[in-house]
Parts: sequence; C-alpha cells; structure tokens
Amino acid sequence: VVVVGGQWGDEGKGRIVDLLARKARVVARYSAGNNAGHTIVNDRGEFKLHLVPAGIFYPEKTCVIGNGVAVDPEVLLGEIEGLQAKQIDTSKLVLSDRANVIMPWHRLIDQLDEKQRGDAAIGTTGKGVGPCFTDKVARRGIRVADLLRAEDLVPRIKAVLEYQNRVITGVYGADPIRFDDCFDTYIEYGKRLAPFVGDVQEIVLDAHRRGDHVLLEGAQGSLLDLDHGTYPYVTSSVPSSSSSGAALGVGIGPTDISRVVGVFKSYSTRVGNGPFPTELFDVVADQLRDHGKEFGRGEYGTTTGRPRRIGWLDAVAARYSVRFNGLAALALTRLDVLDSMPTIKICTAYELDGQIIDTLPARESVLNKVRPVYEELPGWQTPTEHVRSFDDLPPQAQAFIKRVEQLLECPVDLISVGPSREQAVIVNPIF
Ligand code: GDP
Ligand code: IMO
Ligand code: MG
Repeated sequence: VVVVGGQWGDEGKGRIVDLLARKARVVARYSAGNNAGHTIVNDRGEFKLHLVPAGIFYPEKTCVIGNGVAVDPEVLLGEIEGLQAKQIDTSKLVLSDRANVIMPWHRLIDQLDEKQRGDAAIGTTGKGVGPCFTDKVARRGIRVADLLRAEDLVPRIKAVLEYQNRVITGVYGADPIRFDDCFDTYIEYGKRLAPFVGDVQEIVLDAHRRGDHVLLEGAQGSLLDLDHGTYPYVTSSVPSSSSSGAALGVGIGPTDISRVVGVFKSYSTRVGNGPFPTELFDVVADQLRDHGKEFGRGEYGTTTGRPRRIGWLDAVAARYSVRFNGLAALALTRLDVLDSMPTIKICTAYELDGQIIDTLPARESVLNKVRPVYEELPGWQTPTEHVRSFDDLPPQAQAFIKRVEQLLECPVDLISVGPSREQAVIVNPIF
C-alpha cells in the first residue's frame, strides 16, 4: 500500500503512516530527501522526521530508506541520534546501498541556483535535494555504497568535484570546495552509517512474498511532482505513485502495489513559490494558518519554518491528482481546523477568459490567470477532535465529506480530526 500526498505536501502523510503502520511489517520511504518533514504525535511524544520512515515508533517493524531517496548522511545520523535519545529503537532501520547521497556541493548549488533565479526562485527547501537528483540523472551521483570504502570514494569524489568546482567557480563565481574537507567527513559518515546499510529491495520483496503488509510512505505532494505538478515550481523527484515513483524507489514492480491512498487536507496549503489558484490573503487564511499555533502546530513548514500559503480545497487540482495516482482511497486530514468556520468553500472549476474549465492547465502563465469558481457549504461550528465515528460527526461535516468524495471521485476511507494517532475516524479499514 502506498501513501501519497495529494496536494502540495504537508497533508499529514507522517501522521497517517504512523496510524496505518500498526498493521504493516515493513514501512519504507521511497522518494525525495530531507526536504520532507513529517510530524508524528503519539504515545512516545511529538516527532519531526525528515528521512526515517514514520513506522519507527513500532519496535517490531522494519523501516527502510529506499534507493529512490536522496540521503544527507549528517541529517540521517542526527535524526537517528535524536530518536535514540528519546529511547526509540532504531535497530530495525535499513538504508539502501543504492540511495544517492547529498554532498556539500548539492546544498551549495541549491542555494546559488535559487539566488540566480531571482524573482523566479522556486522557493526550494535549500537542502540540496534538487541538485542531488540532477547528478543522479546525469550519472555522476555518489551512492551510499560508495561511502563504505575509501578505494571507491576517493575516485568518485575526485571525478565529480573537479566538474562541480568548475561549475561553482565558473557559473556562480563562488569559492571551490576542497577535496580533503568532503572526503574526511564523508568517509566518517560511511563508517557510522555502515551498520544500517542493507539490501532494501530484498526486505520489501521478502515481506511481500510472505503476504505481510508493506507500507510505502510518500513524501511531498503530487502537485509538486516533476512530471505532473505545477512545473517548473515542483520538486526534483516523483512523489506520486504514477508510473515510476513508488515501485522504482524501493525496487519492486508496479503490479506489487495493491492500493494507493491519497492524503488530502480539508483545505489547501503550499510552501514555496508557484501557482496556487485558491490562495487566500484574508483573515480566513490567518485563521487557518494559526489554528493550534500556541502549541507550535500552526501551518508553518516542518523543514524550514516558513509560513505556509493557505487556500480553500481545490477540487480541480485534487481530482487531477486522484486520477494520475490511481487512488483507491482518500485520507482527509485536519478536518478539525475547519471547526470554527461559519462557511466552507470548495473550488469546483476554474474560470479562464470567460470560459469554465475543470482540468488543470499545464502552462504556468495560464495557471496564474485562472479564477476559482466556488461552491459554498455551511460550516458545523462544533468541535470534532473527540469524534471517532462517521455518524457522530456533525451533519454539515458529513455533507462536506460526501461532497469531497463526489468531486474527487474517490471514497474517503479515513478522516483525521487531530494530530495524535488516535484522533481518527476510520470509515473503511485501509488494510
Ligand atoms: P506531512 O509532511 O504530510 O507528513 O505533514 P506535516 O507533518 O508537514 O504537516 C502536517 C501538520 O498537520 C503536522 O503539524 C501534523 O501534526 C498536523 N496534523 C496532521 N493531521 C492533523 C489533523 O487531523 N488535525 C490537526 N489539527 N493537525 C493535524
Ligand atoms: P513533505 O514530505 C511541502 C517544496 C518546496 C518548494 C519545492 C521545491 O513534508 O510534504 P525542493 O527543496 O524539493 O527542491 O523544493 O517543493 N517542497 C515541499 N513542500 N512539503 C514537502 O515535503 C516538500 N518538499 C519540497 O517548498 O516549493
Ligand atoms: Mg511536511
């Protein structure tokens, strides 16, 4: 089962995986890097994970970081230490030897690139993830396996660094990176990561063959997808499950995937730049952003702390995402955040030069021009955070969910009414 973000990221994927992992044997991250930030609130505390799968809180589960992930060793080692300090067992964490590694030049180039883009900056997380995937595709990436032996690492760094230093000095006019600085650091990372390195594909396939559930944890959102997202304001990997994404990222076949669950917020957010048709700039945006702010739970980026842009649910973009992901079920999160709203809007179509359209245009300039057509629904103005069954939801909330199912053409199987593991309404069990 794959769990993907349906919008522009931060839909609550970590929270949903933490809940669903109860019934899985293996939980795997398959894409992206530490541009992701997944918040988990459970009986062990509150955690923000960037690379470690959200199944780590169940000591008996195997958690794997797949070949499709871009790994910053310093971030991963820091995350493991942070978990261990809180008595979370990390002994069943396995890192693919085929995963690409984020090197110092990736972080530097990410930042230099953004500066060079000026007003057209993407608003990346600055973690070097995009340049790492660029190098992977250009076939000059350094992989986890290369960190394990000096005789492999020396020639790899030498070859890549010579090229990258020419780019750094020539294209950007910045200072070159010294070989000794990165070699010493990365060979040391290799030593510390070695106990975690293993054959992820075998682990996943083995569990699958035995009939155990495997949960693939997506990162980012489908509208940030390199192929299907709001290009060029996207990330450099394939967060969606369409074609290559999830199966490729752990080394299984597409037919091994039985179900794809899309996580959607009850409204929309986006962090970073790029088209956002339903974006709000009024007090409603502030109200939604600052819900739970006093507990550090407002709409502020988990990875960068940036305030998230806020808008009403965009059913046009969301339905597009349902279709290209082949979604079988939706998990609708943050329903409780709408509790105090007198009315709730859903964008059901766009107006473009006097015409009504209900598909997502490819061109950025067109996407920036469309105007949302809204349907207004009455709010419920009752707290929902303690509700655990669909029938106990206020009738207006039930009507909102039914309308979301109709517009997105997909059943809502899970509703989240708070950040904690148990704050959920399970309409249909996913496993
Ligand atoms: P992810 O990147 O998709 O895992 O999502 P993030 O963790 O970046 O952002 C989601 C935020 O919403 C986190 O702060 C979660 O703790 C929180 N969250 C998740 N589900 C719910 C919910 O149903 N209600 C509320 N109030 N918060 C939620
Ligand atoms: P999770 O897994 C939200 C966004 C960045 C930027 C664009 C490109 O927590 O949902 P990048 O650093 O990837 O090159 O930035 O993608 N972005 C995310 N936004 N949630 C994420 O992950 C994101 N990962 C990347 O803000 O707009
Ligand atoms: Mg996040």
